[in-house]
Amino acid sequence: MCGIIGYTGTKKASEIMLDALELLEYRGYDSAGIALSDEAGRGTRITKCAGRVKDLRALCEKEDVSGCCGIGHTRWATHGGVCDENAHPHRFGKVTVIHNGIIENYRQLIEKYELDGKLLSQTDSEVVAAVLSRFYEGDPYSAIRKTVLKLKGTFALAIMFDDIPGKIFAVRNVSPIVAANTEDGAILSSDVAAIVPFTTQYFVVPEFHVVCLSRDGIEMYDLSGDKAYIEWLTVDWDVSRSDKGGYPYYMEKEIMEQPQVIKDTILPRIKDGKPDLSAEGIEDSMLAECQRICVIACGTAMHAGLVGKSLIQAMIGIHVDVVMASEFMYNDPVVDDKTLVIAISQSGETIDTLEALKFARKCGSPSISIVNVKGASIARASEHVIYTNAGPEIAVASTKAYTTQLAVLYLLTARMAIARGLWDEAQTQSYMSELLRVPEVMEEVLSAKEEIHHIADTILNAKDVFMIGRGLDYSILLEGSLKLKEVSYIHSEAYASGELKHGTIALITEETPVIAVVTQDKLKSKELSNIKEVQSRGAKVILLIKGDEVLEQEKIWSRIFRLPVMADEFMVMPASVVLQLIAYYVSLDKGLDVDKPRNLAKVVTVE
Ligand code: AGP
Repeated sequence: MCGIIGYTGTKKASEIMLDALELLEYRGYDSAGIALSDEAGRGTRITKCAGRVKDLRALCEKEDVSGCCGIGHTRWATHGGVCDENAHPHRFGKVTVIHNGIIENYRQLIEKYELDGKLLSQTDSEVVAAVLSRFYEGDPYSAIRKTVLKLKGTFALAIMFDDIPGKIFAVRNVSPIVAANTEDGAILSSDVAAIVPFTTQYFVVPEFHVVCLSRDGIEMYDLSGDKAYIEWLTVDWDVSRSDKGGYPYYMEKEIMEQPQVIKDTILPRIKDGKPDLSAEGIEDSMLAECQRICVIACGTAMHAGLVGKSLIQAMIGIHVDVVMASEFMYNDPVVDDKTLVIAISQSGETIDTLEALKFARKCGSPSISIVNVKGASIARASEHVIYTNAGPEIAVASTKAYTTQLAVLYLLTARMAIARGLWDEAQTQSYMSELLRVPEVMEEVLSAKEEIHHIADTILNAKDVFMIGRGLDYSILLEGSLKLKEVSYIHSEAYASGELKHGTIALITEETPVIAVVTQDKLKSKELSNIKEVQSRGAKVILLIKGDEVLEQEKIWSRIFRLPVMADEFMVMPASVVLQLIAYYVSLDKGLDVDKPRNLAKVVTVE
C-alpha cells in the first residue's frame, strides 16, 4: 500500500514524480506529496495535501517546485486520518522521509526518543524521520543502519538529507522498492509501473540493503557497509500495456486483454501438447509425491484457489485446503513436508500471504507460488514460481490476474495428473485442447459486452444482490460478488444455492436481483430447483447458463445470458468474464471511480 517514487537527474523532478504518482495512485489515494532537494542550499521543500494526485498537481502549480531531485508519495492511510499533516513526505531536522508499510513499535520509539509533543502528524512514518534525525551526524549510511535496527514492522523508506542535495537513499523490509538507472540519473519506485516509461532494466532492492541514487547512478550496500551486487531484471511486457489503451478505465482494458494474456500464460508452458513446467524447475516428483495441498491467498487470489481446489480434488483425488492467508496462523496450521503449499498473489507482496508462506516453508512444505509481478517478495520466498503473464494490472479490482491464475491452475492440475500417471494420451489431449480454446471463447463473451451491459442495467439501483450456484459455479460467484461489492458499492452475497434455504432466503424479496450461474451438468437439476425457490419469493433472476442448455421448465429468469459452451470444468472462464463485465458496467453507470474504489488499495502490505 502507498506508492513511493524518487528521481534524481537533470530533468524537472516534480513533473516526473507527478506523472509517476498518477501511475502509482492505485496503491493508495488518500493523499499525496513530494519533497524536492535543493541544490541551491535552500533545504528540502515539501508540497503535500489530502486528496488525489490531481489535487497535488494543482497545488504544485502555485508553489516553487523547481529542482532535479525529489521523493514523492501517494498514501493509503493506516496510522492517522486523512489530512494534510498526515500526508507524506515528513520532515524532522535535516531528514525528509516517505514511507510505505507499518512501524509496529512507533509508540515505544516516541517514548524512547522523547518525541511526544515534537511531531506534527499522527503517523508512524514521521517517527522514523525523527529517529533518523536523532542518529544523523553527517553519515547517512550510519544513521539509516542505526534506525533500521530499531524498527519493528514493514517499511519501504525513501530518504533525503538537507545537506546532501541531489541524493536519495532508500531501504526496505518486506514492502517493495525497485530501482533503475535512467539516461540522466536514477529512479526508484514501489513498483515497475512508474519505471517503465524510462527503462526496461531494473532491480528489486533486497531487504535491509541501502541504495543511494545520484545523477551518476546507483550504489548499494548491505547493513554492514559492504558494497552489494545488483541483480538486474528486465521488464518483459509490452510497455504500451501499462496505459489505458483508449479505454475509459483500466478495468475495462484489463477485462478486454484476457484472451491475449491467457495465451501469454499458457502457450509458453505447453510442449508437444502437454503442460510443461520444467522452465519453472517444477519436477514431476514434487507433484506426484505430495499427499495434500494447501492453497494460501487473499481476496480474488483466494477465490482462484477455490476453483483450483475443485479441479484438483476432482481430477487428482487428493485433499486440498484453501486458506485465507490472513486466517492461516490463527488456525494452528497443519502443514508438513508432504503438503504442497501453493501461494497465489497478483502483486506478490500481500503480507498475509507472504507470512503464511514463510511459516509453511519453515514447516518443511514444498512450495509453488503463482504471482504476476516479477521478482516480488512471494515469488522470491517460494521454492518455485509460476508467473501469470498478465502484464501490469492497474485497476484495483483484479480481473485478468484472476483468470490467468485460473489458467495456471489448469496447467498445474494437468501436469499433476500426468506426473501421477492418472491420464492417458487421449485424456491429456482432450483437456489441453479445451484449455487452448479458452481465449477464443473469452473473445466470444467480450464481443457480447453490450448485451451484458443491458443485463447490468437491471441491478443498477439494487440495494442488495444475491448470487447463487453450486460447486464450481459457487466458487466463481464468490469472486463475482467481491467484484460487484468493491467497484459498485452494492451489497452482494454469493451463496451456495443449497444453503440458501437454511436462513438467508429470508432476505429474498421482490426487490432482490439474484444472479444464478448454471454451468455444471451434474448439478443442473438441483441448481434449477434452487432458482425456482427464489423466483417464487419474487426475486428477479439473472441466469447465466450454457448456450446449448434446453430449459424444459417454465420461464425462471428475468434476464438470461447464454454462455459459449466448453467442457464443464472450463465453464468458469467464460462465466467469470460475464460477472466481471456486470460489475464494471454497474460501477461505470453509477459514475464511480471504477479503477480506484473507496477505501481500497491495490497492494495490501499491512496485516
Ligand atoms: C480483488 O479485486 C482485490 N483487489 C483483492 O481482493 C486482491 O485480490 C487481494 O488483496 C489479494 O491481492 P494479491 O493477489 O496481490 O495478493
